[in-house]
Amino acid sequence: MTAQEIRQAYLQFFAERGHTIIPRAQLVPYNDPTTLFTGSGMQPLIPYLLGEPHPSGTRLVDSQTCLRAQDIEEVGDNRHTTFFEMLGNWSLGDYFKAEQLAWFFEFLTKVVKLDPAKLYVTCFIGDEANGISKDTESSKIWVELFKNEGIEANEIEIGSEADGYAKGMQNGRVFYYDAHKNWWCRAGSIDHMPEGEPGGPDSEVFYRFYEREHNAAEKRQYGEHCHPNCDCGQFVEIGNSVFMEYIKRADCFEKLPKRNVDFGGGLERIAAASLGDPDVFMISLLQPIIVKLEEISGRKYESHTESMRVITDHLRAATFLAVDGVKPSNKEQGYVMRRLVRRAIRHAFELGIEQNFLEQVVPVITGLYREELPEVLSKQEEVIEVLVKEERVFRQTLRKGLREFDKAYPADGTHGIVGSQKKAKSIPAEAHNLQIDGAILFKLYDTYGFPLELSLEEAFKRGIFVPDYAKQEFERLMQEQRQRSQTAGKGVFKGGLGGQSLIHKKYHTATHLMYQALRDVLGTHVVQNGSNITEERLRFDFSHPKKMTPEEIKKVEDIVNEQIKNDLKVSYEEYLTEVALEKGALGQFGDRYGDTVKVYKMIAENAQQPFSFEICGGPHVEHTGQLAEGNKQFKIIKEESSGAGIRRIKAVLL
Ligand code: SER
Repeated sequence: MTAQEIRQAYLQFFAERGHTIIPRAQLVPYNDPTTLFTGSGMQPLIPYLLGEPHPSGTRLVDSQTCLRAQDIEEVGDNRHTTFFEMLGNWSLGDYFKAEQLAWFFEFLTKVVKLDPAKLYVTCFIGDEANGISKDTESSKIWVELFKNEGIEANEIEIGSEADGYAKGMQNGRVFYYDAHKNWWCRAGSIDHMPEGEPGGPDSEVFYRFYEREHNAAEKRQYGEHCHPNCDCGQFVEIGNSVFMEYIKRADCFEKLPKRNVDFGGGLERIAAASLGDPDVFMISLLQPIIVKLEEISGRKYESHTESMRVITDHLRAATFLAVDGVKPSNKEQGYVMRRLVRRAIRHAFELGIEQNFLEQVVPVITGLYREELPEVLSKQEEVIEVLVKEERVFRQTLRKGLREFDKAYPADGTHGIVGSQKKAKSIPAEAHNLQIDGAILFKLYDTYGFPLELSLEEAFKRGIFVPDYAKQEFERLMQEQRQRSQTAGKGVFKGGLGGQSLIHKKYHTATHLMYQALRDVLGTHVVQNGSNITEERLRFDFSHPKKMTPEEIKKVEDIVNEQIKNDLKVSYEEYLTEVALEKGALGQFGDRYGDTVKVYKMIAENAQQPFSFEICGGPHVEHTGQLAEGNKQFKIIKEESSGAGIRRIKAVLL
């Protein structure tokens, strides 16, 4: 099956089993400052997993576009991508293990028609210290499911990954691992869960692409023996059923009021399994991009595999970021986008593509989503514009870098060493009065975007000697930077539970009040363009052609403070989407909603009309008066441009 067919079949399979198909959430999470990107299907559903009723019911299914920027350096092998689609189905206090595992198995073996003999599964071994028991229930279900296919499934207790290296497969089919492998929560590890975070044991399904013992190189890298979680590529995880029934409390785990299922499966990987080819870049959503790159470069995938994979993944990710309104910049989401585009362009150099190639590749990418995600096609022009602009900026930066290079090392030989690198190399290093050191190579890379190869080439042209230790120094600095960015990446998950704390709710409510006040003061052309809330402030982007005057700012502040004083009652109701829009509810992100939506209303006690009426997932405070607790006032601390025709406000409760 093609990836497109698998996506469609999955949605239909679960729709037939009572699930409502919900639209994907955007890549930039709305109102969740704890993470830069939507990295899993469950992320936008956290409030519902914690118990809030979902407007579409207790059974949901979707295909969620995800971005995992922390995987950027991994891209280049046959299975890692930063951007992917996660097929997801959820039971919000509805069905549990028996239905979930059986359905997924049925989907894989009967719909996608994967050979059950190539499927291997894992279960949670239990965690005594935290009082969480071994998941024998899931294991029993698996044994039965395999038995029905004529496969005798042996249960093996592997425990830790290290034990796996030591013990190997042991003829097993169902493998028990510890919490490092079979416990899921957003914090990544059971030991780092903040209070209030939901999580639970999980059960993963792996597809075995081939069968052999580790060779010598694999032994060094992945351990003596192969096992499902050893990561050598023989087994690839294609789906994960999380039994989310716990919440972390100060010193223990408590059961959630309702137990949930959170399933996530990589569409791209299931499609690769369907092809029986471990190279995920061969699936129908990626291979056409590779073909295009072969066509423009005149090079072959076989000989330029890594660069073509990097370009393919990164441009697909950047395309979706552009579709979801991100622009390249030097911080947050924009920074990741910039890195993706620039890495893609650098790798394009490797293929000898020097000229504006983005406008040729992007339409191939958008074309792949034409049918299922119409917003991709409708934004095609904008996407190309944004990416091509970045390409131009980057090429300028490269030129600037070359000028720096020229200044430091004039090509006219005034630095004393001319001639070929070969000749230069034959001169002892001490004899050179000009050498490049690692710090310079790193600066050229970091500030001017020069890949190492490009710097070496320029040095070569100028006859500058590049000693080996300079390259080693460069590698060391790169490694340091990688660690820094990984730490930063981890940091954003540690911020606690996005959107649930009281101060968070207050800023969320203040955002609604301010949005309405802005429309009252400036006019109804004001439309929300983005919003981000932290414990310290709210940030709000909206369309407006010019800078706000101090008087306008004051007026908006006064209106918000007045509505806080009026102590409006905050409540929500669910409506059919078209009814909500007809009733004049303000929306957040264009028109991509499910069939029904929640609309928050903020209304004074004796008023006929609400002051604010806005489509929103929540959460909010109950009365706007709560925003004034501790004698606080609403204050706009910054008003600035955030792109053409877009203004950005930062405001606080002070
Ligand atoms: N949340 C789980 C994951 O991301 C399953 O959806 O793997």
